Amino acid sequence: MKWHRGRLTQTLGAMGLTATLTVAAQAAGQGDMLDLAPMPPAKAGNPAMIELGKQFFFDRRLSGDWGVSCASCHDPAKGWGDGLALSKGYPSMEYFRNSPTVLNAAHRKRFLWDGRLDGADPGTLARDMITEAHTMNMDGRLMQERLQQVPEYAALWQKWRNDDINGMRVFNAVGEFITSLETRNAPFDDFAKGDSTAITKEAQHGYALFKGKAGCVSCHNGPIGSDGKLHKTGVPEHPDVLNNPLRTITMLRHYATSGMPNYMSARSDVGAYAISKDERDVGKFQTAQLRDLKYTAPYMHNGVFDTLEEVVAFYNQGGGEGSALSPLTLSTAEQQALVAFLLTLSGDPLIVEDPGQPDMQPRVFGKN
Ligand code: HEC
Ligand code: HEC
Repeated sequence: MKWHRGRLTQTLGAMGLTATLTVAAQAAGQGDMLDLAPMPPAKAGNPAMIELGKQFFFDRRLSGDWGVSCASCHDPAKGWGDGLALSKGYPSMEYFRNSPTVLNAAHRKRFLWDGRLDGADPGTLARDMITEAHTMNMDGRLMQERLQQVPEYAALWQKWRNDDINGMRVFNAVGEFITSLETRNAPFDDFAKGDSTAITKEAQHGYALFKGKAGCVSCHNGPIGSDGKLHKTGVPEHPDVLNNPLRTITMLRHYATSGMPNYMSARSDVGAYAISKDERDVGKFQTAQLRDLKYTAPYMHNGVFDTLEEVVAFYNQGGGEGSALSPLTLSTAEQQALVAFLLTLSGDPLIVEDPGQPDMQPRVFGKN
């Protein structure tokens, strides 16, 4: 479907055909009405795994040169991102995409901007972040040997399972930790559960636009405001991706690793195409989540927009080059109402303190 569902409903509604559309949409498996949803209650994770995963998340020894931990690029004080448009990447590199928040990882259908990993498998995501040359550049075996030299980790491990620290399970513990991080107490959630005073009238107007005239809900739906699918909205390239050779290098290396044909001729981020090699996926990215935007500027896969006002203005003009979106003709007041609404999806700041790195000690010879 090329048009936004909200706008289609409007047009057909004027023609008295809404009922027909609803039936057709249900038949197409879309359900009655796409909508946002409040955050579901937190799932009880495995406490021993979460505790270990938290330690590992902040430990720089999980990176090749001891230079970066997950928290270097996913800093709790910066909405679990890094506050930069484009990630620095592993020391001496510069990455070509934005470092997204890890909040609500449990609700991601797919991970990464090009959607290349399955959201049901946070352990694999953690493994890729740790072993990938552009992020932590760590050899799995080396990581395992290093962590086995930390007696406090061995003791924490024993609370979880009765064996030695093992690489793949380290990744799973990190995955368990990040899936325990969720947006809580967002005003929208109270509103959606029936408290009509939880968000302002302006924000309520913004919500109506979000679901109606502005058509945002066709892609941004569910508890985190993402359908988990790939779309081309035509976000302009961040100039630094092509002007800074270090960023061009990480982009081309990512394409080469993915086996993208003719990758040397890429002149901007091709998104999902590098993974699928299907021409129709050029410039497609995963629908971003809309939770905690208050803390996660700048926005989009390359951080090219500093403010939500800029994001909404971008959609108002019908997105960028090659997108299937059409212009929205929202007034300035309507655009402001949309921004006011988007901010109601943010919760209390979730700050986890860095637990520090417990010291390594030489192993007793012959013990393991
Ligand atoms: C050097 C910076 C850096 C480090 C270190 C790093 N990340 Fe990332 N992370 C990124 C970037 C950049 C992306 C987006 C990459 C892409 O889409 O191509 C990302 C993506 C993610 C995502 C996907 C979020 C989404 O919405 O799709 C998760 C989850 C994540 N990282 C968790 C971690 C964990 C856990 C660690 C530690 C094991 C870690 N990261 C270490 C920079 C980093
Ligand atoms: C056709 C599907 C689609 C529609 C319709 C759509 N979006 Fe998006 N949205 C996306 C995709 C895909 C991205 C990520 C694009 C990228 O990074 O290149 C995104 C990104 C965003 C972001 C950035 C979030 C972040 O953390 O970087 C915001 C905010 C946003 N959209 C708000 C809206 C609003 C408001 C509307 C309605 C006016 C809307 N979107 C309509 C698909 C859509």
